[in-house]
Amino acid sequence: MRIAVLSGAGISAESGLKTFRDSDGLWENHRVEDVATPEAFRRNPELVLRFYNERRRAVLEAQPNQGHREIARWEGRHRVVVVTQNIDDLHERAGSTSVLHLHGSILEGRSSKNPNLVFPWTSDMRVGDLAPDGSQIRPNVVWFGEPVPKMEAAAEAVESCDAMVVVGTSLQVYPAAMLTQFAPPEAKLVLVDPKPPAVPPRGCAVIAENASTGLPKAAELLGL
Ligand code: APR
Repeated sequence: MRIAVLSGAGISAESGLKTFRDSDGLWENHRVEDVATPEAFRRNPELVLRFYNERRRAVLEAQPNQGHREIARWEGRHRVVVVTQNIDDLHERAGSTSVLHLHGSILEGRSSKNPNLVFPWTSDMRVGDLAPDGSQIRPNVVWFGEPVPKMEAAAEAVESCDAMVVVGTSLQVYPAAMLTQFAPPEAKLVLVDPKPPAVPPRGCAVIAENASTGLPKAAELLGL
């Protein structure tokens, strides 16, 4: 079976990583939408780099949880593509081998001039740390208002799936939230979230549980 997974911050909640909207979207009393933007980086690069340094350290200390491992388990018998909005590497560390990071990766840095100049970066980032092209480095993450280059590949993965599992996302951020609309009409859809959206995507079965217990139930429902 071809399975497309769309995951969000909620799947990493049980690994101790904060979600965006559970913690009412605030960080040090800043709205995330006000920190994760190109304008904020131009206006106050120290603040933005500090925000991501904290998140990078938390990711490096976190471990994958049962939810990440359950999705990796499905690869034994099925073709699985994980489209994640998360910038952590917990899906990969749990064993998933096909992971599309729609919003980038906190463990990569990039030139602030050339978005294609990307390199691994696991330590704190500071103003004055330069990319090979001499520009100030920045986290290789997609900020609000920036293009989402992997959206086309993500849509193709969903368009060709037999089943789609949506886990740990409030489906409030576009274009990621549109992805369920690309699923073929005959595809089975399952959503796993302890507080599911009021209006789940069309025809979606809802398992109102945490990822660690809800994903094995989704697998049972889909016969994985
Ligand atoms: N298991 C599963 N889902 C959970 C869990 C859990 N243990 N805990 C919380 N959730 C759910 C919440 O109920 C919520 O629906 O995870 C979802 C998290 O939603 P958001 O915080 O909005 O995270 P996400 O949907 O990934 O945000 C999308 O917004 O801030 C931007 O770029 C950022 O990628 C992020 C995007």
